[in-house]
Amino acid sequence: MKKLIKNNVYWVGKVDWELELFHGADYTVNHGSSQNSYLILEGKTALIDTVWMPHAKEFVDNLEKEVGLHNIDFIVANHGEIDHSGALPALLERIPDTPVYCTANAVKSLTGQYHHPEWNFQVVKTGDSVELGNGKKLVFVEMTMLHWPDSMAAYMTGDNILFSNDAFGQHLAVEELFNDKADQCLLWEEAIKYYANILNPFSPLVKKKIDEILSLGLPIDIIATSHGAIWRDNPAQIVEKYYEWSQAYRENQITVAYDTMWDGTKKLAHAIAAEISALSPETKVKVFNISSVNKNDIMTEVFKSKAIAVGSPTVGNSILSSVGGWIDFLKELKFKNKKAAVFGCYGWSGESVKILRERLAGAGFEVAEPEIKCQWNPREEDFAKAAGIAKALCD
Ligand code: FEO
Repeated sequence: MKKLIKNNVYWVGKVDWELELFHGADYTVNHGSSQNSYLILEGKTALIDTVWMPHAKEFVDNLEKEVGLHNIDFIVANHGEIDHSGALPALLERIPDTPVYCTANAVKSLTGQYHHPEWNFQVVKTGDSVELGNGKKLVFVEMTMLHWPDSMAAYMTGDNILFSNDAFGQHLAVEELFNDKADQCLLWEEAIKYYANILNPFSPLVKKKIDEILSLGLPIDIIATSHGAIWRDNPAQIVEKYYEWSQAYRENQITVAYDTMWDGTKKLAHAIAAEISALSPETKVKVFNISSVNKNDIMTEVFKSKAIAVGSPTVGNSILSSVGGWIDFLKELKFKNKKAAVFGCYGWSGESVKILRERLAGAGFEVAEPEIKCQWNPREEDFAKAAGIAKALCD
């Protein structure tokens, strides 16, 4: 069933309450999500994006019922990733000659994924537009690397709707579609998690792109995202948040993340947290066991932090594989302007703190000198070193 967005613009996507994982198993979805697709019924009938492949049949059947597939004049594919383009093969099998407006890079990604070079691609770039009739048009804005090289947004004149694709989204199921209808705590929790875990690596480009869009002076009444709530109530609020988040964001928070074998490193983690709290009561301190807490949730807390402390015992002349994999993800997210400190227990060879130091420096963190390298179980003199770490991270 289509749902009204504004005037002759409708939502025809999928609210996916059952989704648990995204990007393979790289992103955990806790409160459902959506793949938002939009149908514009002006002089021309235009479809903006589709849905993920498992929902393709339902999507195409619904379009047939709502508008009649052969009445669709053109499709806009803002992004080739499969959660937006997954229904294109089923749709274009039924209406094969329909023009598909997309970037040159999207032609590469769509052709690479679906092997249909014969699709009627219409390549567009920033500033190009297509008429919708009734005095309205869609103006395209390339969103290169936000978050794929093929990403694009489309702005609808007259109704002042920015179809922003992945930007400004959240993995959150909102049956009523709009941000003012969403649970506000969940909305912001999921928006910052989405930014931290998906968009943060591209932060310098986010700021630049927002500046570019704002410089156009276009009125924006609605930001119609591809995932989660559609921003109709004060859409500027999420733009302002992105602007803030894109500039090496940090709050007065320190996150301690560790894994442990026989609880020695765990005791150090809690000692460090206690020292930070004692030294700086206004600083929020959070402690996570990397093996038992979801990595996306920890990364969201790292994103908010001004510093982190990371601990692992030594095992096999290295660090625990849980911590190694976690640091790989940490590096991928390209956090900036954050300090780090290292700690860990060992029984025999004791390489973990050195490895943690090197790996965190390689991930872009400024690693403080004080550390805790503790043989066997921590003694008073080991716990005493937690104060040095606290001071280095709070300064
Ligand atoms: Fe919503 Fe880049 O996928």
